[in-house]
Amino acid sequence: MTRSERVLGSAIEAIGETPLVRLSRLTRDLNGAVLAKLEHLNPGFSKKDRIARQIIEDAEEQGRLKPRQTVVELTSGNTGTGLAIVCGIKGYPFVAVMSKGNSAERARMMSALGAEVVLVDQAPGSKHGQVSGDDLKRVEEEAQRVVAERKAFRADQFRLAGNFRAHYLHTGPEILRQTGGAIDAFCDFVGTGGTFAGCAAAFKEHNRSILCFIVEPAGAAVLAGGTVTNPSHRIQGGGYSMTELPLLRPEHVDGYIQVSDERAVAFARRLAREEGIFGGFSSGANVAAAVELLRGPCQGKTIVVTICDSGLKYLSTDLWQ
Ligand SMILES: Cc1ncc(COP(=O)(O)O)c(C=O)c1O
Repeated sequence: MTRSERVLGSAIEAIGETPLVRLSRLTRDLNGAVLAKLEHLNPGFSKKDRIARQIIEDAEEQGRLKPRQTVVELTSGNTGTGLAIVCGIKGYPFVAVMSKGNSAERARMMSALGAEVVLVDQAPGSKHGQVSGDDLKRVEEEAQRVVAERKAFRADQFRLAGNFRAHYLHTGPEILRQTGGAIDAFCDFVGTGGTFAGCAAAFKEHNRSILCFIVEPAGAAVLAGGTVTNPSHRIQGGGYSMTELPLLRPEHVDGYIQVSDERAVAFARRLAREEGIFGGFSSGANVAAAVELLRGPCQGKTIVVTICDSGLKYLSTDLWQ
C-alpha cells in the first residue's frame, strides 16, 4: 500500500515523498526539461522538514537526545518549523534562534507550532529581509548561549550528518525512482549544503555522469571562489558567504551558477503564474539556474531542482506585489 492509501500515525510520516513536476510552460521555448520537486508541500511547507526528522531520529537512535530534553537550533525559519513539528509531536521542548532579518511569518509559524522563538538583532548596516553572514554569526552566538543555559541538544544543521542523510536516503532516491533514473543534471541553491550534498551523493552513486551544480547569489559566490560584493542579497535561506560548509563534498561539485536577486524574483513569479507552483526566492533561484543550464552547457538535457519552500512564507515581502 502506498502512503497516500493508508492512515498515517502522525504528521511526521507525512514528510517527504513529494511530487515531481515537469515545468512544461516555463521551458516551452527551450531545448530540454526542468523537473521540480515540490518540497513546499511538506507539512511545514519546506524541504527542511526532512532534515528535522532525520536529525532528531538519528539522535534518538544514538542516545544523544534524552526524553523531554530541550532542542535548540539556529534557523532562517524553515528548519525551525520542521523541528517545531517533529519536537512537538515527540514531546521535546524546542527553542528556535532566528535573525530579525528573516520574514515575520516564519517566527509566527514556529510559535504557532509550539516553539519558543528567540529573535536576534541584525548586525549594524544589515537590512531587513537580507540576512548576511555577520547576522548569522550573531545568531550562532545566541544559539550557543541558549544550549549551554538549558543543557539542550543542538540540532546543528550545518554539521550533523542527519542533514546530509535526509537527502541522501530520501530526497535523492525519490527523484531517481520518480524519473527511473533518467536525469542529467541537478542544481541547488546552497545554505547548509545539505540538500546539494545528499542529493549529489545519491545521484553520483547511481550514475557518475549526472552533473551537479551549486547555485549561489550573484555578488556572494564564495564557494565558486568569488569575492563578496553583495552580502545583503535577497535569496533567504542560503548564500551566507561561508567558505567552510562541512557537509559539502568538493568531488561532487561539477560547477557553480550565480543568480541575481532580480532573476530569482522573476522566476519565482513565473513559477507561480505559469506553473501554479508557489515557491520562495530560493526556488526562483534554482529554476533560474536550471534555465541558464538549458541555454548553455545542458542543452537538450533533463535538470532537477527543488522547490525549497512555500511562497506563503514571503507574503510580507515584495516578492508578491
Ligand atoms: C528557503 C530555503 N532555500 C534554500 C535552503 C538551502 O538548503 P540547504 O541548507 O539544504 O543547502 C534553505 C535552508 O534553510 C532554505 O530555508
